[in-house]
Amino acid sequence: NRAHHHEFIIQATKVKRLCETHNSITVNGMFPGPQLVINNGDTLVVKVINRARYNVTIHWHGVRQMRTGWADGPEFVTQCPIRPGSSYTYRFTIQGQEGTLWWHAHSSWLRATVYGSLLILPPAGSSYPFPNPHRNVPLLLGEWWDGNPVDVLREATRTGAAPNISDAYTINGQPGDLYKCSSQDTTIVPISVGETILLRVINAALNQPLFFTVANHKFTVVGADASYLKPFTTNAIVLGPGQTTDVLITGDQPPNHYYMAARAYQSAQNAPFGNTTTTAILQYKSAPCCGGAKPIMPLLPAYNDTNTATRFSQSFRSLKRAEVPPELDENLFITIGLGLNNCPKNFRSRRCQGPNGTRFTASMNNVSFALPSNYSLLQAHHHSIPGVFTTDFPARPPVKFDYTGSNISRSLYQPVRGTKLYKLKYGSRVQIVLQDTGIVTPENHPIHLHGYDFYIVAEGFGNFNPKKDTAKFNLEDPPLRNTVGVPVNGWAVIRFVADNPGVWIMHCHLDAHISWGLAMAFLVENGSGLLETMEEPPADLPVC
Ligand code: C2O
Repeated sequence: NRAHHHEFIIQATKVKRLCETHNSITVNGMFPGPQLVINNGDTLVVKVINRARYNVTIHWHGVRQMRTGWADGPEFVTQCPIRPGSSYTYRFTIQGQEGTLWWHAHSSWLRATVYGSLLILPPAGSSYPFPNPHRNVPLLLGEWWDGNPVDVLREATRTGAAPNISDAYTINGQPGDLYKCSSQDTTIVPISVGETILLRVINAALNQPLFFTVANHKFTVVGADASYLKPFTTNAIVLGPGQTTDVLITGDQPPNHYYMAARAYQSAQNAPFGNTTTTAILQYKSAPCCGGAKPIMPLLPAYNDTNTATRFSQSFRSLKRAEVPPELDENLFITIGLGLNNCPKNFRSRRCQGPNGTRFTASMNNVSFALPSNYSLLQAHHHSIPGVFTTDFPARPPVKFDYTGSNISRSLYQPVRGTKLYKLKYGSRVQIVLQDTGIVTPENHPIHLHGYDFYIVAEGFGNFNPKKDTAKFNLEDPPLRNTVGVPVNGWAVIRFVADNPGVWIMHCHLDAHISWGLAMAFLVENGSGLLETMEEPPADLPVC
């Protein structure tokens, strides 16, 4: 097993998109940032040097970080930010994960340009559980703002309104052919007749679940979130922000140029979104040259095609027999959704520009998560600093109501701000029912748990009904993931064993929703405290 050493320099770099040049925050001057390729079992040592004028942290999305919670990266959760002019070295080992993960900034909205792929190959000397592909091609789907993304968030926080939508979607940082001033830089994926490529598709967009497809070619889905799946074929895939999907594609069509395209899956009603399409080109090496003809365009699902999204996620079966905990020590029921905070009458109205003079908020079990600013949660716990967080996150919602009914009174659910953690005993077997609510709008929320993979044992629409829905649980071969797209107006049930000590945030991976508080965190410790089961904090861990 090898150790791979990298240096990430966070810096402002000139990036030209959609006809204009911007000073964007990048890693090593690259956008997207460096691609990391390692084998399962290897160790990564990444020194992050901050030469930008913003605080930053890097999160290794989906890496289990067994006992290395100090390297997880979310700002004010496991570490204080890396200040401009300082550095921090992340050190961790990949254990038993194979496929595609990624890394991204976990501070403000810097991840709009600070992200890259993390490809985990089988251990040296072993092979994939499917025919060896000729090549690996990572495809990072993203979102681009003409403005500075950090300012977009600041403005939304100031006004209480929804943040501006992005100006383009991107594939490997490029909007592609269908946007202005973009055709010359469109991402091109060459392919030969008969060749099989493993496309490693990552949704790195901030706020948008996306459909992705390739004209005239079928996908064989073989993995997601760095876990293998029983292969199945499909024309289109859908990914929530944070999710990855590995698909095989074969050069079995007449040599030509074919568009690979992504566009929004938008489940929230009456919410603004970008209804444009980003493209890359699958280009057969033997294709007769061009003559100005456009590549062949695929049919993409309609933006609100929840049927296709549902059919897709319900096709997932883990390749191996799953190790789902059959008995439970913890059974949580967590509502997820947006809210609107009433503004006091004499409140400056500039700060209340949400619907009808409100401010947007979001919550889990009616708690709107507030990050501390003087300590990270993990440091506060480690040094027993009182007053930074409480451990009274509720295991069920404070009031019961028809979560997915229409016309839910939002006075029922005025979220309270708090830094509330839920304590899990080390080794406990946990089930969480995640229930979407329609308080502002029903929506498919991509819920991501740090430090763990979990089994998605069931999902469905309406209110979760323990009596009849428990019968549908798949305890044989459910998919193992780190991010679940909880169906719009529906629910998902996840299970995992709390075998990784630390403080782990669980949040909606739509960044607009994190900033409104759609998050909570688990504190996983053994009876005698966290210290004995977790590694000591690294000497260069930033302090606040
Ligand atoms: Cu990829 Cu906390 O996120």
